Amino acid sequence: MAERTFGDKLTGRSWADVENDIEAGRGGDIHWTSPLNFAASYFAGDDVAAVAREAFVKHIGDNVTHRYGLHPSVQRYEADVLDFVMTLLNAPVDARGTVSTGGSESLFLAMRTAREEARKNRPDVRDPEILLTHATYPVFNKAAYALGLTVVQVPHSLDYRADVDALEACITENTIMMVGGAPPFPYGLVDPIPQMAAVAARYGIWLHVDACIGGFVLPFAEAMGRPVPMFDFRLPAVRSMSIDYHKYGYAVRGCSAVILRDASLGEFQSFSSSVWPAGRYDSDTVAGSRNAGPVASAWAVMRYLGYDGYLERMAMTLEATDQIVAAINGLDGLAVHGEPEGVHFSFGSDELDMMAVGDGLMAKGWMLNLQTEPESLLLMLSTQHDDALIARFVTELIEVCEGVRAGTISRQGNDDAYGIY
Ligand SMILES: Cc1ncc(COP(=O)(O)O)c(C=O)c1O
Repeated sequence: MAERTFGDKLTGRSWADVENDIEAGRGGDIHWTSPLNFAASYFAGDDVAAVAREAFVKHIGDNVTHRYGLHPSVQRYEADVLDFVMTLLNAPVDARGTVSTGGSESLFLAMRTAREEARKNRPDVRDPEILLTHATYPVFNKAAYALGLTVVQVPHSLDYRADVDALEACITENTIMMVGGAPPFPYGLVDPIPQMAAVAARYGIWLHVDACIGGFVLPFAEAMGRPVPMFDFRLPAVRSMSIDYHKYGYAVRGCSAVILRDASLGEFQSFSSSVWPAGRYDSDTVAGSRNAGPVASAWAVMRYLGYDGYLERMAMTLEATDQIVAAINGLDGLAVHGEPEGVHFSFGSDELDMMAVGDGLMAKGWMLNLQTEPESLLLMLSTQHDDALIARFVTELIEVCEGVRAGTISRQGNDDAYGIY
C-alpha cells in the first residue's frame, strides 16, 4: 500500500527558490489587472492598486478582533469606511454598519439578523421563508440552508428583472424576508426595488438590497444624472443592504459591509457569550480572527480617491460600458439583455451558439463569464477597458462570430458551471 510522505516538502528552501516556483506556477494565470480580463477584476489604475497594497501590507500582521485593544487604528478605519458607505447609500443617521470579510458574510449577517428579528417580533412564524429572485446570488441559498430558512425562488420577468407581482403572489404568513439586487450578478439589471419596497411595506417583510456590486457604482451613476431607479435607504422599507469595498471600492479582497437601517436592529445581529473563563466574547460577524489588511486598504483607497476620485473612475467605466453595449447591439445576431444601469451586462443571441462564441473569445485570451439562462456572455468592466481595448474586443468578437457561423469555432463542452472557474 502506498505510504503518505512529505516528499520534497520535508526540507525548507530559500525564498529565492520558492519565489521562482510561485512565478513559474502563476505563469499561466490571468493577471487580475489584465486588460483582457472582463471577469471580476475591479481595477482602478496602478496608483490605486499600489495604495491598496501598501496599506494592506502595513497591517498584514494585525487582527481586526483586537481593534479595541491592540490596534485602535483599525477601529478608526472601520468607522470611517462605514460612514462613507452609509452616506453613499443614504442611510439614516441612526443606521448601524458592520465590516465583514466579503459579500457572502454580509448577506449571511443580514439574513441571520432578519431571522432573529422575526423570531422575536413574529413568534407565530414556525417555518420562516425567504423570497429570492431568479438572479440573486446563490450565497443566499447557502445561508438559508445554514440558517434553516425555506427558500422560495421566484422566476424573473421577461425583462430579466425581479417580477414583483410573482413575488407578491408567493408571500405567505411565513415569509419574513425578500431580497432585491442592485444589481444582481447575472444580467447586471437592477431589480425594481421601489416596487419591491412597496410590497415589503404592505406585508411587513424585511427587504434586503444586495448592492455588493452596485454599491460603489449606482450612487455615482445617479450623481452623473444617469437613469438609476431608487435602490437604497431612501426607501423606508429597505431594512438592510450589503456593499463590497473589495469590488468597485477597489480594496484588497476581504472587505465588505452590512448596513442595518436602524441601530436598534443590532440586538438581532450581535452575539455575546460569557461561558468561558477568558472574558466576555462579543461578536457581530461570522468570522473570528481576520486580517486588518483589507479594511486598511479600503480606508486608504477611500482617503486617496475621495468621493470625487471614485466618481471620476466610475464615469470612465460607465462611459466604456455604454460604448461596448452600443457596439455589441450593433452587431448582427447579438443583443445585450436590457439596459444595464451599471458596469456589467450580459449579451446573447437567437441564432449563434453563445458558448461557442465564449470559447472562441477565451481561445484568443479574453476572460469572461459564461451564463446558462439564456446561454450568454457576461462582461464586467473596469478602468483598464479603454477605447482601444474595446475596439479590439469588438473586432475579435466579430471574427469569432464569423467562425461560429462558418462552423470553424464550436463549443468546447462543460460550460454550465457559474463563471469561468
Ligand atoms: C451580487 C453579488 N452579491 C454577493 C456576492 C458575494 O460576494 P463575495 O464573493 O464577496 O462573497 C457577489 C459576488 O460576486 C455578487 O456578485
